[in-house]
Order: sequence, then structure tokens, then C-alpha cells
Amino acid sequence: MKILFIADVVGSPGRKVLKEFLPKLKSKYKPDITIVNGENSAGGKGIIEKVYHEIKEAGADVITLGNHAWDKKEVFDFIDDVPNLIRPINFPQDTPGVGYVIAKAGNKKIAVINAQGRTFMPPLDCPFRILDEVVEEVRKKTPFIFLDFHAEATSEKQAIAWYLDGRASAVVGTHTHVQTADERILPGGTAYISDVGMTGPYDGILGMDKDIIINRFLTSLPGRFEVAKGREQINGVTITLNNQTGKAESIQRISINEDRPFFD
Ligand SMILES: [Fe+2]
Repeated sequence: MKILFIADVVGSPGRKVLKEFLPKLKSKYKPDITIVNGENSAGGKGIIEKVYHEIKEAGADVITLGNHAWDKKEVFDFIDDVPNLIRPINFPQDTPGVGYVIAKAGNKKIAVINAQGRTFMPPLDCPFRILDEVVEEVRKKTPFIFLDFHAEATSEKQAIAWYLDGRASAVVGTHTHVQTADERILPGGTAYISDVGMTGPYDGILGMDKDIIINRFLTSLPGRFEVAKGREQINGVTITLNNQTGKAESIQRISINEDRPFFD
């Protein structure tokens, strides 16, 4: 089974570059399932229904979220009505939406889970303990288990990956918006990367207008973040899983920008 995962889509530049390159990436890598992190997809924070459909039409099968899941209040109007949109599973009980989905991947099924870290982030339920339960639950249905772990601290991402090694097929980090070069397969068969990066502005700071951010550092005054303009980038990973065992066989980074052009 082949998985294509696209990192945090930021605002309209992210959606533009996704529409341009996702069809090309899909014809190059021929994934059985395409998963996109959309937590920054509407104006840089959150998601709205129109944008959900835009990302789906661009080629996403499942959309994951993160700490900005609730930033656009409109999300509460549709999160329980649309398929394959998931938010971190360790949000408090009774939070709208769901934390995982069993999705179709070719002629197989895969569990796609979203969870969030707690280090340097708002307090949530313990992701380790919740993932213990949910991984055990979904393993009854499928050996293919993918986790988007949305977290700030690399140590917490590595800890989750080692904790789930041999139990999950893949653990990919999101949220920090800079792609790490540490992709590997852990000894138990779990594909891992600390952070897949970001899909959106190439010349900003983590996708935001660089002058506003620089000014914040210079003055220590609050400034409203704005999505950067100009050139774009797309970041992702493609992961191959053994069709019988669900264990990872390969993980490859994807990073496309003007300095690293796309080759088909
Ligand atoms: Fe985030």
C-alpha cells in the first residue's frame, strides 16, 4: 500500500500549490490514499467548509487538523457532517468531530489517526494512553495504521513513534512547518519523520509574512500574523507499506520549490 501525505496547507498560497502539484504527485507516486493536513488551510488558521471541499477536490481522501482546528467558528457547523475530516483524538471527551477514520485505500482499509502533543502546547488528554487504546481498537479492523502527530517538540514526536513502533505503520509529525531530514523506518516497522513541513509560502517565516514576524522580534510588540505572499512550496512524504503485514517498507520525503523543482 502506498500513502501520500501532504504537510500543513497554509492559506490560499497553500491551496493554490496543492491544486497545481497534487495531481502531478499522484500520477508520479500512484498512492492508494492521499492524506492532507488542513489545519492552517483557511487564512492560515483553521478550516471552513468551502476550503474542506477545495482540498478534497484537489485530491485529498482524508484531511487532518491540529491545534488550530477550532479557529474558524464555522467548523462547528460542518465537522460532524462531512466525511474523512479528523481532529486530534486527545481533545477532551465530547469535543465535536472524530479523531480517527477507517478509510478506503485501493481495495484495502487504513486507519488514519490524528493526535496532538502536549509539550509547549495547550493541555490535552495524554496522547500516549489514548493511542494505546485506539491502536488496539483499529488493529482489529486493519493492519494499516497511519498517525499524523501534530506536535511542537521533536522529543515528544520521537517518543510517540518509538512508543508505537511495531504497532502503527507510520507516524508522521506536523505543526512546526519545517521539513526534517530524519525520515526512517524504526526496527519494529514503523515509518517515521519528525516533521513533514509545510505547503504554502516559500519566502515567509513558517508561512507567515516575514516582515511582520521580524518586527515582532525587533519590537516585542504584538502584530497580527498574515499569510506571506509570493513563491510557493509543497512538502510531503510518500510511504510504502507491506500489503500483508502493514509494516513500512519505505519512506521518502517530497519537497518542491523553485530551488528544488518537480521532476516526474
Ligand atoms: Fe499547528
